[in-house]
Amino acid sequence: MPIFKPKQAPGVQVDFTRLPRHVAIIMDGNGRWAKRRGLPRTAGHAAGAETFRTIATYCKEIGLEYLTVYAFSTENWKRPEEEVSAIMGLLRKYLQEAIGKMEKDRVKMKFLGDLSPLSEELQALCRRTEEISTHYDGCQVNICLNYGGRDEIVRAARAFAADCAAGRQDPQALDEAQFASYLYTGGIPDPDLVIRPSGELRLSNFLPWQSAYAEFYFTDVLWPDFSKEELHRALHAYQTRSRRFGGV
Ligand code: FPP
Repeated sequence: MPIFKPKQAPGVQVDFTRLPRHVAIIMDGNGRWAKRRGLPRTAGHAAGAETFRTIATYCKEIGLEYLTVYAFSTENWKRPEEEVSAIMGLLRKYLQEAIGKMEKDRVKMKFLGDLSPLSEELQALCRRTEEISTHYDGCQVNICLNYGGRDEIVRAARAFAADCAAGRQDPQALDEAQFASYLYTGGIPDPDLVIRPSGELRLSNFLPWQSAYAEFYFTDVLWPDFSKEELHRALHAYQTRSRRFGGV
């Protein structure tokens, strides 16, 4: 149930008693947002980080259970070093701030991805925020960091195969639920709604297994301009869909 009564956006009615459990967002369009303003791409990421703060706080306020965002993909290392370190710097800043207000916010943090190539400092911050918030019951915010959907599936297959070789698992007994427990998202319900701003109409290796039955919402709005009203539009669109999961 929402813990406060959200203001409806003009022309869009969201039923806050029927929210999706899990919303996942590809935070896309930061670079184009900056370019349109004659700014460096890094300024777009800084603006995108602000939008993330606003939207994550709002998701908590409306009582959403899970929010997952794509912050850095396994492919994003191909970007110029300056841009990569700017994104890592923004994450560091965000986590340092988050630690200070976690007790009050009760937001549960989790990182999905292979954190090992990140700096020791950033890895420690990720671990610390996860540990502090383990037992928190507010919105769970999952940050996909050095995450790739195919990479995740390959790692899960490898871990399952290792368990089979060690006699802990039986390949014949493997089912979808058990395989899913080997993914980074083990224990997290699948996203109900995947949002991609910026006009791109693709998944880009984001939660491919988990999104098998997700509803999609695409908008031309660039991520730094994504607002609570735009989130309302996405939630409203979701509430108009008929989800059949292969049934009738
Ligand atoms: C995609 O836009 C965005 C990213 C690869 C980085 C997202 C990172 C942040 C929003 C900042 C840090 C995150 C947190 C959680 C504090 P793009 O650069 O590909 O945009 P473009 O397609 O317009 O070039």
